[in-house]
Amino acid sequence: MDKGSVKLAPSILAADFARLGEQVAEAEQAGADRIHVDVMDGHFVPNLSMGAPIIQSLRRVTRLSLETHLMISEPDSFLEEFAEAGSDSLLVHWEGNNNLHRTVHRVKTLGKRVGVVINPATPAAVLEEILQDVEQVLVMTVNPGFGNQHFLHTTLPKIRRVREMIERIKPGCDLEVDGGIDAATAPLVVAAGANVLVAGSAIFCAGEGVAAATRRLRSAINQGVD
Ligand code: DX5
Ligand code: ZN
Repeated sequence: MDKGSVKLAPSILAADFARLGEQVAEAEQAGADRIHVDVMDGHFVPNLSMGAPIIQSLRRVTRLSLETHLMISEPDSFLEEFAEAGSDSLLVHWEGNNNLHRTVHRVKTLGKRVGVVINPATPAAVLEEILQDVEQVLVMTVNPGFGNQHFLHTTLPKIRRVREMIERIKPGCDLEVDGGIDAATAPLVVAAGANVLVAGSAIFCAGEGVAAATRRLRSAINQGVD
């Protein structure tokens, strides 16, 4: 994979919300490619985070693409709201969705990019039938619900399997990873085949500041590229 094609998606879950616009602008100037927004309902995952108003506010302060990671029990009830607020991509979980194909096609009808997310214990094989319908797969590299957790190294073989499946079924589909990504783990996931990296605490909680942390992660990514 060539270096330029690996994208960085800072997760604002770890940002200082009192300075959100400023921090997102810093990440954008330092080379972030997308902004990742984690939506949690206290039910699908044991934590609460944010809703569509945050997307609306971000839409006014950044030109970057906004991807919304829906960790909620009833995604279908909120797709329209998040689309109208200004999301460019909607990422929905495989887990707990008995009608995933319908959800995916609802997102497409709304004119948005669609991604399917799988948790660490979910096998890559569940993607086989839905892959042709999506623009992105997100492999969770921690259990969803919280920022600043340890990267699960057991997910690396799965990332490789998903990369193979993408090359076979849907070349061009993005393969994103989310959770515990920092300068040490970024080269590993890139070498395994990921081409979009979410990072929260490594960018927004670094002592060196958002811009320096973004650049540091970018250079770590480059180490993982042949
Ligand atoms: C976890 C979220 C992640 C999280 C990543 O449920 O989906 O996006 O914010 O945070 P870090 O990079 O700190 O693991
Ligand atoms: Zn996320």
